[in-house]
Amino acid sequence: MSEIVFKPETLEKVKTIIARYPEGKQKSALIPILHIAQKEFGGWLAVPVMDYVATILSIKPIEVYEVASFYTMFNMKPVGKFVLEVCRTGPCMVSGSEKILDHIRTTLNIKDGETTADGLFTLKPAECLGACGYAPMLQLGKFYHENLTIEKVDEILELCRQGSIALD
Ligand code: FES
Repeated sequence: MSEIVFKPETLEKVKTIIARYPEGKQKSALIPILHIAQKEFGGWLAVPVMDYVATILSIKPIEVYEVASFYTMFNMKPVGKFVLEVCRTGPCMVSGSEKILDHIRTTLNIKDGETTADGLFTLKPAECLGACGYAPMLQLGKFYHENLTIEKVDEILELCRQGSIALD
């Protein structure tokens, strides 16, 4: 990994976020800054990246590790370009999320938490993502794909392969 420093424009954004909090309470900016760091440094939070965030916030590295490893939206190991976060909590489960998960596992030949050999896809079962009324669903980047069927999942995978799906 090359030197870990935010791009100047990102650093400005980070400073703006930190400035929202009172002096001595910079730690409150940790989660938004981890999101920014994850995006800027390859989609996951390597230890040196978390250490850099700790330095910026003047907190201990362990304070960053604790938060980053607690929330599933932060990746603690490299992931594919497309991270399929498939909800498997109650309402999604009774609406067929296991069938959806099985289809993805078989189609991509990966298990939960794994990434395809071409580095394109990571499968990440998730807990309730707050879209229970549209179950089953998955999150891809910032977008929700709801009322999933096998056909819809195939379409999503194809759009990913073509690079024509929105993530941001
Ligand atoms: Fe899947 Fe809530 S149970 S979004």
